[in-house]
Amino acid sequence: MKFFVDTADVPAIAELNALGMVDGVTTNPSLILKSGRDILEVTKEICSIVSGPVSAEVVALTADEMIAEGRKLAEIAPNITVKVPLTWDGLKTCKVLSDEGKMVNVTLCFSVNQALLAAKAGATFISPFVGRLDDINLDGMELISDIRQVYDNYGFDTQILAASIRTVNHVTQCALVGADVMTAPPSVIKSLINHPLTDKGIDQFMKDWAKTGQKIL
Ligand code: G3P
Repeated sequence: MKFFVDTADVPAIAELNALGMVDGVTTNPSLILKSGRDILEVTKEICSIVSGPVSAEVVALTADEMIAEGRKLAEIAPNITVKVPLTWDGLKTCKVLSDEGKMVNVTLCFSVNQALLAAKAGATFISPFVGRLDDINLDGMELISDIRQVYDNYGFDTQILAASIRTVNHVTQCALVGADVMTAPPSVIKSLINHPLTDKGIDQFMKDWAKTGQKIL
């Protein structure tokens, strides 16, 4: 499963990238707001660090305007993925831009039927929002699993990019049900390493090593 980082925080991306943990990046208008940066500048900087797909989201609501915004965003770097919402205008934009050879991420997906439409419109990625379904007492992970089954039933090559990932358990479940990609905030990715038995084991080894009186270097 590929790891995308869901942030526009450049130092956080660089830190994880140096560890080989960044296969791509996703941003959205809320994350650009949080960064306090200009969208074109910060996206260009991210693309200079990360070689995998970097999603930059359009903000227009009509297809013509979304297409124009998408083309402008795609000029930033060859690894830009234009992110469009799951509306008919977004799907029209997806079809036009994917026919031009651009990568497109269709976002704000909350149903299997929406995921089917995105695949038929040529989406490179579909972004079902796990956490936001959980927020309203639905099962976000069930949606990932259902889309996996439907895409596999028909051989769609649109990649399932599980988004709105909030917990380490979400990450495990995504991997178990076969999401192609998961995108999570840096804090979630950094928490994946935590295990009290690892900490306890290191503590014991350190105590025993001190008793040997030896040195390696
Ligand atoms: O990738 C989508 C993500 O940014 C939304 O996450 O936690 O706001 O639902 P969240």
